[in-house]
Amino acid sequence: MSNFPIVRMRRTRQSEQLRGLVRETRLSVESLMYPLFVAEDREQPQEISSMPGVMQWPLEHLGREIERIAGLGISSVLLFGIPTDKDETGSQAYAEQAIIQRAIKLIKEVAPHLVVVTDVCLCEYTSHGHCGVIHNGTVQNDESLELLARMALSHVEAGADIVAPSDMMDGRVGAIRHTLDGQGFSAIPIMAYSAKYASGFYGPFREAAGSTPQFGDRRSYQMDPANAREALREVDLDIAEGADIVMVKPALAYLDIIRQVRDYCNLPLAAYNVSGEYSMIKAAARNGWIDEQRIVMEVLTGIRRAGADIIITYFAPEVAQWLK
Ligand code: PBG
Repeated sequence: MSNFPIVRMRRTRQSEQLRGLVRETRLSVESLMYPLFVAEDREQPQEISSMPGVMQWPLEHLGREIERIAGLGISSVLLFGIPTDKDETGSQAYAEQAIIQRAIKLIKEVAPHLVVVTDVCLCEYTSHGHCGVIHNGTVQNDESLELLARMALSHVEAGADIVAPSDMMDGRVGAIRHTLDGQGFSAIPIMAYSAKYASGFYGPFREAAGSTPQFGDRRSYQMDPANAREALREVDLDIAEGADIVMVKPALAYLDIIRQVRDYCNLPLAAYNVSGEYSMIKAAARNGWIDEQRIVMEVLTGIRRAGADIIITYFAPEVAQWLK
């Protein structure tokens, strides 16, 4: 049933100007969120070997990096802490003068308008590397909720603008909402890692954050990569518990999930272009096998086209420069 030669698709592809007019999806710096690792026991910024260009930042150097990021027009950062001391209950996650709490205060002084989002999860802070507390070899759901809510509260008390629970315990969004509201922080949004899959793509992050589980894996709390309907149930629950933004993570092997969640609900949707997705592009580009800028723009455009409003990506500073 072709109308050729009356219909010719190539007519609007003939110049960059024409292509620009009919373009359906655009990347903009406003939708990018940049993850940052803040480390307690470092003198100098240290590059993460599997993530070229991504550093663990000591507090003393964080201010300059924040100025650079804000100067590029990036409007939000997602913070991860790397404490010196880890214990069974991850107490450095919610101590008042711990690394993230100090980092938040510093960032708010250097760049008051930068939106500071904090990852709420115990795995970087526990000696066993799991996202909740352990009894009899298993991660305890309900006991972990109290600690996660304390952690979120301490971030907000330090000045965080948004908290982002990534632990995948049941009921955590509700527990955090309840605690924040009870302490006078009803205006602070929660960005829920709603559909977070048990993924091999987190490998480089675990090196960066020192958060590899000391035994077992995260499959008893993160989602099975084979499931899509279950992601919608997770989204439903997080909405019911008060989430303001929902997230799908990782992004690239889960573009169908991003699209389904976009069609399913009306909340703002974030997608996390995770560490392994970054490392693969960097490695191939360093070998001269791909054109890095072209591939990065194509990948991020694909994530937007799939339906994400917010893209969390380690490429944010480079992309911000390219978009200028
Ligand atoms: C903490 C957390 C992880 C990531 C974000 N928050 C790791 C994990 O769940 O193992 C992964 C981010 C990335 O790979 O870039 N739970």
